[in-house]
Formats: sequence, structure tokens, C-alpha cells
Amino acid sequence: MTDTTENTTDGVGGRATGSTGTTPTTATPTTATGTTATGTTATGTTAADGSRAPSRRALIGWGGAGLALGAAVAGGAVAVARPGEDTGRTSAAAGGPIAFHGEHQAGIATPVQDRLHFAAFDVETDDREAFVAMLKDWTEAARRMTAGKAVGDGAYGGLAEAPPDDTGEALGLKPSRLTLTIGFGPSLFERFGLAGQRPEALVDLPQFAGDNLDRARSGGDLCVQACADDPQVAVHAIRNLARIGFGKVSVRWSQLGFGKTSSTTPEAQTPRNLMGFKDGTRNIAGTETARLTKHVWVDEKDGPAWMAGGSYLVARRIRMHIETWDRTSLQEQEDIFGRDKGEGAPVGKAKERDEPFLKAMKPDAHVRLAHPDSNGGATILRRGYSFTDGTDGLGRLDAGLFFISYQRDVRTGFIPIQRNLATDALNEYIQHVGSAIFAVPPGVRDADDWWGRSLFSPTTEG
Ligand code: HEM
Repeated sequence: MTDTTENTTDGVGGRATGSTGTTPTTATPTTATGTTATGTTATGTTAADGSRAPSRRALIGWGGAGLALGAAVAGGAVAVARPGEDTGRTSAAAGGPIAFHGEHQAGIATPVQDRLHFAAFDVETDDREAFVAMLKDWTEAARRMTAGKAVGDGAYGGLAEAPPDDTGEALGLKPSRLTLTIGFGPSLFERFGLAGQRPEALVDLPQFAGDNLDRARSGGDLCVQACADDPQVAVHAIRNLARIGFGKVSVRWSQLGFGKTSSTTPEAQTPRNLMGFKDGTRNIAGTETARLTKHVWVDEKDGPAWMAGGSYLVARRIRMHIETWDRTSLQEQEDIFGRDKGEGAPVGKAKERDEPFLKAMKPDAHVRLAHPDSNGGATILRRGYSFTDGTDGLGRLDAGLFFISYQRDVRTGFIPIQRNLATDALNEYIQHVGSAIFAVPPGVRDADDWWGRSLFSPTTEG
């Protein structure tokens, strides 16, 4: 193997190739099926340290079809994560890493990054061992990519006759606070003898008023949510996982997102959605441990045991009728949300963070209907992104909100809130066109752990 040590696009540091020609890792996924799509092993070698001198941000031209994501976003001023420590996940140096290991998966209560690439996969194999081997390979690749390292032996410098392990487009880019979060869909439990392990809370979502769901943009046996401050880093991650999964899983649908529409860091400026309103004001913050425990993390006693420390994810592709919205008066827009457009203050209040007085709002105002007091206390953590996927062929923007919520139980979280939103004044301007639900297992604890171990280990370990 050629010793390529360091590779950057700018020569001053950044994402390493992953190939130093030195120590093989002990967590190497080696099984009969532990090969990449290319036929080379997905094993890792100790990489050059991708978190060395920070690189000049590489601005990469984006050739992907249908992407309207704009320029790469500069990382915000945030503190440094301590790798391996869950507490260190709450922040990261601009462009730095978010710790992959922890009690809970990163990408839920960790600070919301600017960009999203969400992918739902269908399983294509009946071979449980092969699927488990893939999960192990995925975990190792995720461990490396979130640390800013290339997959396996890197993007070049290896055997000239074989395709490289890593696709290469993230070389020279910083970790960009990349988080990768895996979830298992209801249909996965029809496979691999998992029927008895399906959580009761992983219900098939009911049909809601106004749903116009496209099956091709709904469901999935599993999902990976990739969030990063640099879109190219998020896309690279999904692409390389899909590549490793070749023959075992295939992408069913995917969604790119930008301009986070919710915040888990209340001290930061609240982002705005495509309707121009601040979104995420009354979200659960990543620092609100008690509320996270109560509303987001699955408790041991909730069952099943393998989900303890996990959460449930609901994804909804919500199309906005932007053109109609843009012709709506300011007063009506503010009435619809129950908040003012400039400050984001609730009706009758002066400041964004003032407690909403629901009775001052119109009965069909979005905030009034979504508020916990209108839903028996139901509270969710929102982590959505805006999307713009070109036009719909009729001269209108295909744009909206890719809504993501995390909750301890969808039956007491998303479902009652969405039911109550049946009379939402906002419904005139939106339509739900895609839907999926996933059980998100607990975090990967250490270098020997892997995504899904708590679910699959009873029959695969040892
Ligand atoms: C395109 C669709 C949607 C848009 C544009 C939208 C926008 C907003 C905005 C601007 C706020 C006020 C600021 C805030 O506290 O975050 C808000 C609040 C909220 N939304 Fe939505 N939302 C949408 C869909 C949904 C859906 C589908 C749900 C859940 C089923 C939901 C649940 C909530 C909740 C729980 C709140 C906080 C209510 C409170 O505690 O005051 N939203 N939304």
C-alpha cells in the first residue's frame, strides 16, 4: 500500500485520505460479507488525523442534479467538542467533529447543523449475517467520516487495479459537525426473524386529514439522517454508506435540506422557515436534560430493552404552496401562526421567548393547536430542514419543510399533535406528501459497539 499520509485540496490540512499504511484497527469488520461494493474490504487503517490544523474551507462547486442549496455555509462560532464524551457533543469548533460515541445517537439533541441529507433504504437481502456485517461496516465508516476521516483505505494511494474505498469528494473538507443517525422502519421487523422485537411504539402512522402521500417518497426499512454544516460532507456520507451497502440495501428515497428550521440551541438566533417565520422557538433544547428524558429518550421500562436510550423519528415531506403564501397579507400570515413575523413574539406579547397566551390567538392558529397545552402535554423535538427541489412542472416551486421530529413515543408525541392540526389555518398553504417512521436505537458506546447491536446481538454475538 502506498503511504499517502495526508491529502488535502488546499495543502494546509483537513480531511485525510485514511491511508497511512500503518496500524489496522481492531474494530475492523471482517466477515465473509464484510466487503464493500467494490470488492475491497471495508476495513480501516489508522488514518492521518483529520482533525489537525484546520483547513481553509474548500468551496466545492456542486454538480448534483436538482440541488438548489446555494453556497456552502460558513461554520458558526462554537466551542470545541471533546471526542468520546457525550457532553462534548453539545458543541464543536467551527467545522470540527461531533463525538460519534455516546449514550444516545448524535444528530438528535446535538446542535442542529445547516444541511441535511436524509436517506431511506430498502433491504435487498434475506441473509441476516450479511445485513449485520453491513451494519458493522457502516458503523466503522460512520465513525471515521464523523471524525473527518476517509472511509477504509481512503480515496487514492491503494491498489491501482481496484476502486478506492472512499469516493473522494470530501477530501480536504473539515468534519463539519457531521452526525449520522440510523433508524429502523416498521418493515424491517418483517425480516430477519425480528417480528417479536418490533416496538409497540413503532406504529404504522394513521392517515391524517389532508395527507396526499407519495409512496415513492414514504416508508423505508431503515434510514440514515446525515447532518453537517457543509452539504458536500453530508452527501459524501450517504453516498459512501449506500456504496458499502450495495447488494444488501438500496436507496428508496432521499431528501436534501438546507436552512435548518428548528434549533436545539436557544442561545443561537432562531432560524426562519421558507414562509419567513422564526421556527423552533419553543423547541426542546439539547441542554434540557429533564425534558429530553421525559419526552425524547426511550426509557428502559418503556420496552423493548434494545430501544433504551433510543428515540422514535417521524419524517414528513411537507410541500408549501409558496406562491399562494406570498400573496397572503402580513396580518393573515401572522394570524395563521399566532406569532408576529419580525420578532417572532406570540400574539399580544413583545418578545420571541415570552410565554404564548393561547387564548389571544385565533382558534385555528398553528402555535395554538400545536402547543402542549392543546394536546394533553404532547411535546416533541423538532429537527426539520427547508427544501427546494426545483419546480413541479407547473411553474411552481417544489419547496417546503422536511419535517423531522424525535419523541419517546409517537402515540403520545407526533400523532396527537398532527391530529389536532387537522383544523390548522396553515393547511391551506401546505400539504404532506411524504411520510416515514423509524425506531432510532441508542448510541454506539465505544469502538467495539455497532449500530443495531442491541437489536441483533442476542443471536449474532459470541
Ligand atoms: C410546513 C409546515 C409547518 C410550518 C411552516 C411550521 C411552522 C411553525 C412555526 C413558525 C412555529 C412557531 C415557532 C416555534 O415555536 O417553533 C411552530 C411551532 C410549532 N410547531 Fe410547527 N410548523 C409546521 C408543521 C408542524 C407539524 C407537522 C408539527 C407536528 C405535528 C408541528 C409542531 C409544532 C410545535 C409542537 C410547535 C411549538 C408550539 C408551542 O409550543 O408553542 N409543526 N411551527
